Amino acid sequence: MAKRKVRLAIVGCGTISRAGGPGYVGHPNCEVVALCDPVRERAEERAKEWGIAPKIYTGYDDVLNDPNVEAVELLTPTHMHPSQSIAALEAGKHVSCQKPVSKDVAGADQIARAVKSAKTVFRVTENFLYYPPIVKAKELLDKGVIGEPSLIRLRTTTGRNKKYERIKLEEGALTWRRDPKLNPGGLIFDSGWHRFATAVWWGGGIERISAMITRTPDYLVESPSACIWKYTGRDCLGILEDVLTPQMEIRGKYYPVDDFFEIVGSKGIIWVTRCTGELLDLPPVMVIKGSETTNIQVPSDWMEGFNGAAAGFVDAILKDEQPMMDIAFSKQVLQVTLAAYQASDSGKQVAPSAVK
Ligand SMILES: NC(=O)c1ccc[n+]([C@@H]2O[C@H](COP(=O)([O-])OP(=O)(O)OC[C@H]3O[C@@H](n4cnc5c(N)ncnc54)[C@H](O)[C@@H]3O)[C@@H](O)[C@H]2O)c1
Repeated sequence: MAKRKVRLAIVGCGTISRAGGPGYVGHPNCEVVALCDPVRERAEERAKEWGIAPKIYTGYDDVLNDPNVEAVELLTPTHMHPSQSIAALEAGKHVSCQKPVSKDVAGADQIARAVKSAKTVFRVTENFLYYPPIVKAKELLDKGVIGEPSLIRLRTTTGRNKKYERIKLEEGALTWRRDPKLNPGGLIFDSGWHRFATAVWWGGGIERISAMITRTPDYLVESPSACIWKYTGRDCLGILEDVLTPQMEIRGKYYPVDDFFEIVGSKGIIWVTRCTGELLDLPPVMVIKGSETTNIQVPSDWMEGFNGAAAGFVDAILKDEQPMMDIAFSKQVLQVTLAAYQASDSGKQVAPSAVK
């Protein structure tokens, strides 16, 4: 029997909709029945780009009142995530909400209360956790291929490359980001979230963290920065490094940003050599065991993670399952991210679980 289609609305047709939308549009068991944005032309432009004819709404309430919409993908500014998620859950819709889940822990707690009484599912959209090289590294770790991990290092280098900038920043995308009342941090919050989510997914809960986050006049940049933490219940440390190389070209089809991740274990080492950028001329995943190096080829185009995240949500709804990144996991990642700022501001180690 052919599977039914999940009827989904995409809410927020700004910058990240260009990456977050196509996975739903192309999924055989999903129909994008509505697009919503107060700037009507953005929704119309996306519909045209994707070759679909959905309902176009400029008000979020209209999406919630549409009985044909059973699920929403929220691609709106971060400070709107809690209220929009809760309203959708109360209206009986399944919710997938872009990372970060909320600008503060109170927002995540409010979502958690709504999730408890909802009959529908909630998850945070985290494309990193569906990016095949990161998924492969998790598989290798879980199989014990490198033994017990003692160090997880995540380095992000931002360079330049105008030629391949495919995900154009929408007008206004920096306005809410630069407002500390709406966005609690710069790139260590907005984009560092992805790396912290990966770090927690690979290594588990984080007991305490210390950090030096550089605040710049631009507010968003925050580079160079470094955070170091200890995982809970294991002798394993994590390190996040964020650096700028403004005069260096970084190859890649999307952002001029290179990620290099390394996991050192008792029996070997795993490298993930890219995410969006393609700086290194190396396979996406490598396993180093003494004198033996194994190159692992998995799909590594940056869109794979977004498409996988879309499929993860649709497939879970159809199977009546909870998708990855539930509210508890998302709150944990949020607490780690905010703890890094508190640690940097205070010069002391901070336990993420104590961040309220
Ligand atoms: N996964 C990733 O790699 C990634 C990358 C960039 C942004 N993001 C996240 O996605 C979210 C959106 O970021 P962005 O860069 O696309 O922002 P943006 O400002 O470019 O787009 C937000 C869109 O939401 C619309 N909007 C505002 N209020 C709305 C409402 N009430 N109902 C419906 N739409 C509304 C705006 O008009 C705008 O078009 C943020 O939480 C951000 O952190 C994720």
